[in-house]
Amino acid sequence: MQTRWEVAEDGHDWLRRALARVHSAAREALGRAGAFHIVLAGGGTPLALYRALAQEDHDWSRWRVWFGDERCLPSDHPERNSLMAREAWLDRVAIPAANVHVIPAELGPERAAAQYAQTLAGVGAFDLVLLGLGEDGHTASLFPGHDWGEAADAADVLPVFDAPKPPPERVSLSARRLARARRVLFLVQGAGKRQAVAAWRRGERLPAAAIRPPGGVDVLMDRDAWSEA
Ligand code: 6PG
Repeated sequence: MQTRWEVAEDGHDWLRRALARVHSAAREALGRAGAFHIVLAGGGTPLALYRALAQEDHDWSRWRVWFGDERCLPSDHPERNSLMAREAWLDRVAIPAANVHVIPAELGPERAAAQYAQTLAGVGAFDLVLLGLGEDGHTASLFPGHDWGEAADAADVLPVFDAPKPPPERVSLSARRLARARRVLFLVQGAGKRQAVAAWRRGERLPAAAIRPPGGVDVLMDRDAWSEA
């Protein structure tokens, strides 16, 4: 499985490159199937990309939005990944509500995971999966020392308890389901991620490294996150 490391010149170049990859994936999916299934990353790094997408003009009715993970908080909590994506992007464009598939994490890890797995049933490979990278090498809500769901028979959606990054209860697509994708793009910024990138490049077993789609993964970093290690 190939990991392609890409280092942007600066924040502007990083955003330009991220947008170009979303556009390319959307163009390919819409041309092939008439719909574009994209999985959103949580956390703060992708927000610049989401805000930029909110300024663009697309046939949003053909976009299908999924979430890679969600925090078990009330649905209107400011720390919810879905609410951050709505405020930055989804509520600012004419994407039909039925096309935005929020993880019902307010129900708690197990009920939400079971419900989201049902929602995902019948959905094939994602066209583009966006993922973040934690300082400990986590991605989505797959954390070191936890079950990442890599096995061929792993569930699509995992309940997460005692996550080291608050809140402790979360829901996450499994490594296997995240890797069932035509393209996977990691969005990484900041010196805080340098150690995780170095460990990843050294071949250490990390949740991020466990995402192994057939087409490989792209890791788009800024200079602060890059490590020659
Ligand atoms: C979450 C995210 C998580 C995030 C990384 C990076 O719910 O917290 O899914 O995996 O992507 O922790 O977060 P930042 O982009 O905020 O550094």
